[in-house]
Amino acid sequence: MAGLRLHEKKALIALRMLDGKASVEDIAEKSGLAHAAVMRAALTLSERNLIKIHEQKWNVATLTEEGEYYAQYGLPERRLLRALLRLGGEADVDEAAREAGLDAEIVPIALGWLKRKNWVFIRGKKCTLNVEAEPPIGVDEKLLATIFESRSLRVEDLNEELKPVLETLRKRNLVEFEEKVHRELELTEEGWRMAKKGLEIVEEVTQLTPELIVSGHWRNIKLTEFDVTAPVPPVYPGKVHPLQQIIQRAREIFLEMGFTEIRGPLVETAFWNFDALFQPQDHPAREMMDTFYLAYPQAGRLPYKGLVEAVAKTHENGWITGSKGWGYKWSSEEAKKLVLRTHTTAETIKYLATHKKPPIKVFSVDRVYRNEQVTYRHLAEFHQIEGIIVDKDVTLRDLMGTLKTFYTKFGIEKIEFWPSYFPYTEPSAQAVAYHPKLKRWIELCGMGMFRPEVLAPMGIKCPVLAWGGGLERLAMIELGLDDIRMLYANNVGWLRRTPLCQ
Ligand code: PHE
Repeated sequence: MAGLRLHEKKALIALRMLDGKASVEDIAEKSGLAHAAVMRAALTLSERNLIKIHEQKWNVATLTEEGEYYAQYGLPERRLLRALLRLGGEADVDEAAREAGLDAEIVPIALGWLKRKNWVFIRGKKCTLNVEAEPPIGVDEKLLATIFESRSLRVEDLNEELKPVLETLRKRNLVEFEEKVHRELELTEEGWRMAKKGLEIVEEVTQLTPELIVSGHWRNIKLTEFDVTAPVPPVYPGKVHPLQQIIQRAREIFLEMGFTEIRGPLVETAFWNFDALFQPQDHPAREMMDTFYLAYPQAGRLPYKGLVEAVAKTHENGWITGSKGWGYKWSSEEAKKLVLRTHTTAETIKYLATHKKPPIKVFSVDRVYRNEQVTYRHLAEFHQIEGIIVDKDVTLRDLMGTLKTFYTKFGIEKIEFWPSYFPYTEPSAQAVAYHPKLKRWIELCGMGMFRPEVLAPMGIKCPVLAWGGGLERLAMIELGLDDIRMLYANNVGWLRRTPLCQ
């Protein structure tokens, strides 16, 4: 038939030889075509109503690397429980974790599950067993072992009771799902007619070579037509990590909007991270809870004396700002302490100390550190998007407009501005976005206009709009993640599945 390509004819013939109905694999074998070639041919054939494609889909659960590890060495809560048993039923969390050989980041997870399974009491740092002897292997552990032994498991084969157990394992990142498809092709009546009539097979040439052209032989051959829109098997080439792509995009958007990038060191003095931003030296955010202080070297250098004195006086009594200040004795020793910067506002304020002439539009996309418990929405090391605009008559409205433009360019539509508080801005606000998957509003960034107490010591006379916020949150929305840790997990499956462009 005119219009049918070689592969399509071959597939039809193979299908006729296989009694009119067969799987893609069988047709590939019979016709000598590659699996993907059969699939491409099948698509055209079904469009022409010569065959029907029957699809059967199911999900296969396999263990992640972490899952395989636990299947072999036991879930962390089981290991911690055994350690407690060995220690006589009661011990300090740290001691039990050491006895169990658990990594520090696993301990909170193990504790959480120990409590959920009601195996222990926890009071302060003390763990006390709630069971006399080792509890029997639970359904979750059994399921983990089953998947480990059989390497994979058809999700649909599980009974209703086990499905939620599997879901819990998936949420714990121990199991991942992959969709499998089985396709069968079947000749339609028209297809039978066509296949029976006998199809003339003319070998086609897929590549036009110089020889074919020079010899003029190209006139006598049949060149294969290609359907460039046909689906192809997935390939997994190397690509830039999704988070890096988002960092890159944030940079490009700011550049498009006329901003210039600034960068600064990861280690800053408390002076830039806190003092220059009018955060009092006894501010709770400075405590060891949130801030990583350097053990060695402990202290850095302060900037020129005039600036330090102005900052000191502003803290103590408000200096020339009309403010009363915080009313305490400012210590330069405290300001010299070195910290892993907790926000990139340290860089924008430092920039202002040496660049005072408006207009200024600078941004940074860079790493910051906070001593926080790592959870589905918190990391201890993450990136912030930060920036300032300095100009004569700018107002908070300009800032809202700028941020709205920025986030819209990112593809986030539902964004609002809510009132907020920061010690260095007045008024202060936060930009929030609706996360469709988590079904709640999440904070994108803090923002506001730097207070006179921040600007006066820097010698800035213009209003300064400032903002800063987490980049990983943005990545969560962009990539549809409900767990921020995925961005730093070594999860090859997820990395492969995440498309290069959205
Ligand atoms: N530095 C603040 C934070 O890390 C954000 C912020 C920056 C708020 C600039 C106001 C102005 O959360």
